[in-house]
Amino acid sequence: MSSIARGLEGIVLTETRLSEIDGDGGRLTIAGFPVEELAPRASFEEVLHLLWYDRLPGAGELAQLRERLALLRVLPPSVLDAVRATARARLEPMEALRTTTAALALADGTPGDEGDAATLDRALALCARLPVLVAAHWRLLHGRRVVAPRAELGHAANYLYMLSGELPPPAAARGVETYLNTVVDHGMNASTFTARVITSTRSDLVSAIVGAIGALKGPAHGGAPGPALDMVFDIRERAARSGASLDDEAEAWTREAIAAGARLMGFGHRVYKVRDPRADVLDRVADELFQDAGDRRLYDDARAIEKVALRVLADMKPGRRVQTNVEFYTALVLHGAGLPPALFTPTFAIARTGGWIAHVLEQRAENRLIRPRVAYTGARGREWEAIEARG
Ligand SMILES: CC(C)(COP(=O)(O)OP(=O)(O)OC[C@H]1O[C@@H](n2cnc3c(N)ncnc32)[C@H](O)[C@@H]1OP(=O)(O)O)[C@@H](O)C(=O)NCCC(=O)NCCS
Repeated sequence: MSSIARGLEGIVLTETRLSEIDGDGGRLTIAGFPVEELAPRASFEEVLHLLWYDRLPGAGELAQLRERLALLRVLPPSVLDAVRATARARLEPMEALRTTTAALALADGTPGDEGDAATLDRALALCARLPVLVAAHWRLLHGRRVVAPRAELGHAANYLYMLSGELPPPAAARGVETYLNTVVDHGMNASTFTARVITSTRSDLVSAIVGAIGALKGPAHGGAPGPALDMVFDIRERAARSGASLDDEAEAWTREAIAAGARLMGFGHRVYKVRDPRADVLDRVADELFQDAGDRRLYDDARAIEKVALRVLADMKPGRRVQTNVEFYTALVLHGAGLPPALFTPTFAIARTGGWIAHVLEQRAENRLIRPRVAYTGARGREWEAIEARG
């Protein structure tokens, strides 16, 4: 048997036209566009069209897409019942989202139809409804009424509106939209791989997305921004209590954490060995967001803590090239837009659904069952013993 590639590191699974990561150059291309060119300009709906059809939509196509998404945002009562059940059971947001995404099958107009047209209808329904599922669950969990979407609002603004019940400030809506575009697709990450594996068995789109949500839930993938923000708050609090400088407390905190074997959340990446280019895009968004509204001090403190953390990582993990990843600035942007940390990973899922679906469509078009092998290290030649003889 050939050598083992633990974590499938360095293995090229297939070809894609969706995104390319240059881990040493620190560049990300999304369907032909550098991420810094596309993300701050495009609407999320335009990015969906770009990924699924490999070109930006014309004005008529975009209007039609927005209209279809607006209609699909209205949740059927059976799905809303499922959301209520997850809130009653006090499921945390990612568990609730995984459960209610599966429950979208309750309102599938063409169950069992795996043809291309039915799959595209389901793709639109998934994109339209994931933010509604997250927002409705969050409000019910906190004893508030569900807020219906507004047809005239775009994807990002609607999400914020359904969460708060108020029209979001334009800078917050734009900030979240840029975030959604920035993280919509990213090569063969764990959740995208999961979606591809499920699709490769010729299973259906909803199963692929439910599986991908499960993979995204883990802290090594999509769960990092909440803890990254906790670290910033923790260090600030310690500095306020001790009277020491923020830099000194950041140094002590990060050293202690790494010495105890912990990982600094928002740092390190399997592919990027230089600064994650998405961190730069979101750094600019955070800078703008905290200029107008929010707590400017928090942004400045976070940047100071990042600097110290990078210095400590270089010192304690020499040669490992652990740099800032997208999650550090995700935390700042989403916090600045008024989202609670518990919704950071679900918001990531809302964005990545666009990329997951694009990969599912690619996988369906040129399918080959994904079926790696393992090297057996277990016992051999055992002989069967009757239960009475086993002691
Ligand atoms: C993302 C991540 C899982 C990638 O890890 P990976 O490619 O498997 O890297 P490895 O586990 O091989 O780590 C290599 C070395 O760098 C260290 N390292 C990597 N990321 C680190 C971090 N965030 N903090 C401290 N040390 C880190 C590891 O401890 C390891 O050190 P060692 O050689 O002394 O054992 C990892 O960097 C991490 O856990 N980061 C924090 C979580 C996070 O921000 N996730 C979001 C990713 S977008």
